Amino acid sequence: MKVLFVCLGNICRSPSAEGVFREISDVETDSAGTAGWHVGKPPYGPMLEAASRRGYEFSDLRARQFTERDFNDFDLIIGMDASNIENIEALRPDGNETPVHLFTDYGATDMTEVPDPYYTRDFDGALDLIERCAEGLKTTIR
Ligand code: 4NP
Repeated sequence: MKVLFVCLGNICRSPSAEGVFREISDVETDSAGTAGWHVGKPPYGPMLEAASRRGYEFSDLRARQFTERDFNDFDLIIGMDASNIENIEALRPDGNETPVHLFTDYGATDMTEVPDPYYTRDFDGALDLIERCAEGLKTTIR
């Protein structure tokens, strides 16, 4: 089982999802952004700091862009919001049936997206939701 977390920039939400999930699960993970703006960069400083206050450490991650090959390389692709899902689906190869879901589908919450803390500046709110969805995902794929 290989899970790919996807957001827009791959410096806030999806690396956090990966960092939290790899702490609670042995499932193989990666993350990517649908945009290429931050390729090669570590996660966003304020995001790493908020996560580090909760004991998560994922400064080793580097941003990369989501590609159509990811549909073949992963068993499950998880987007952080509806626009991520749209951008992911636009690259789906003909005949590919890899499941693509919203992270909030696993959170037993009314939220339908992980709000982007790069804009909201609510890094702790994003982490609260990411932790909740990560636990739900773990239960689902166990
Ligand atoms: P992310 O947040 O998609 O959660 O990584 C963003 C980070 C940077 C930008 C947009 C979203 N940006 O426009 O640079």
